[in-house]
Amino acid sequence: MKKLKVSELKPGMVFDQPVYIDSSNLLLQSGQELQAKDIERLMKWGIVEVQTNGGIVQQTAQEKETLPPPLPALDPGNPDISKVAADYDTFRKARFNIKSMIQQGADILAANMIALSEGKPFDNSALLNLAGKLVDEIQSKRFFLLAFHGMRIKAPTQVYHNIQAAAYATAMAGSMNYTRPRTQELVFSVLVMDAGMYQIPGHVRDKAGALGDQERAALRSHPIIGNQLLLKNAKLKPALANVALQHHEYFDGTGYPQSLRAAQIEETARIALIADSYTAMIEKRPHRPGMLPYDAMKTMLSIDTGRFDPKLLRAFLGRLSIYPTGSIVQLSDKRMGMTLGCRPEKPLRPILRLLRDENGLPFSQLNFVDLFQASDLYIVRALDPVAAGIDLEAEI
Ligand SMILES: [Fe+2]
Repeated sequence: MKKLKVSELKPGMVFDQPVYIDSSNLLLQSGQELQAKDIERLMKWGIVEVQTNGGIVQQTAQEKETLPPPLPALDPGNPDISKVAADYDTFRKARFNIKSMIQQGADILAANMIALSEGKPFDNSALLNLAGKLVDEIQSKRFFLLAFHGMRIKAPTQVYHNIQAAAYATAMAGSMNYTRPRTQELVFSVLVMDAGMYQIPGHVRDKAGALGDQERAALRSHPIIGNQLLLKNAKLKPALANVALQHHEYFDGTGYPQSLRAAQIEETARIALIADSYTAMIEKRPHRPGMLPYDAMKTMLSIDTGRFDPKLLRAFLGRLSIYPTGSIVQLSDKRMGMTLGCRPEKPLRPILRLLRDENGLPFSQLNFVDLFQASDLYIVRALDPVAAGIDLEAEI
């Protein structure tokens, strides 16, 4: 890798390959603009060099103005873009049905989780049916994951969290060529993996500040409680209940409750951890806003490297892109778009639906661009939809 002196870095620089602080810490993604605060942080840490395999594609904020004019986004003769437009249309037409399916699913899950924790009958087949519907919808609609952006569902936070995590787990299972029955079981087990949380007092579960030792211990007991409830009350087979037990075990052995590591943890629980962690980061909670999907993915890739199974994390990245499905991004030609997904082997070059032109005005027709093909374009930054004036639910 080439070394770059920190003293020669300038705000506004953009590279065509990631820039690393060292072998395990990422500074910048390709196409991401270097900020003054990044340089200040490196200097504060006493770091004098960073490294990259790439080169500078944009020098500074001033030089940005001299970039060549944008490429046309929509190539009507391009079969890939026509397929994207058709797949997007399929999702768009189905989104109200998807929303009502998720609302009904949330009601079923909430009722069963409460019944389970109160020792009342648990409807195994209703939840298995819900898992099957989620699998079919996600696997038949390429851009289904957009459904979780800007959707207003009335459900307890924990219930909606597990539905969303189950959807991301389904997407990963698709990348790993799981069969349908295996995917359905995975999804079922992710839906119910937090069954133990319903027995944790609300003031501990929803506490905004730092947890005390006893509170942390109570919260960390939910995998064992959930596993017992699912085995004894719901009569689940151990392979399904194991996801509840192991979904907070980390690949490097630093998780809980048993400090299992690597292959000691069931693959389904390793998938559940990734889906659960990503979902938790992007969700808004009473005491904090949700992270942008891009920031959540960056955090998963750079900070928690020992926590996740690297093979599964790659599958997740290959399905969602570094700018995960539903991200609002600005392109190098100043247009703004929403990411839809990517080719698994090109997670830095997602497919976008363009939302605003270079003057910030909406397009009069649906307009798509595939960054894999439009090689002169790159993403400059991920944007907060609210700050960018985008109402995702209305826009989709
Ligand atoms: Fe959990």
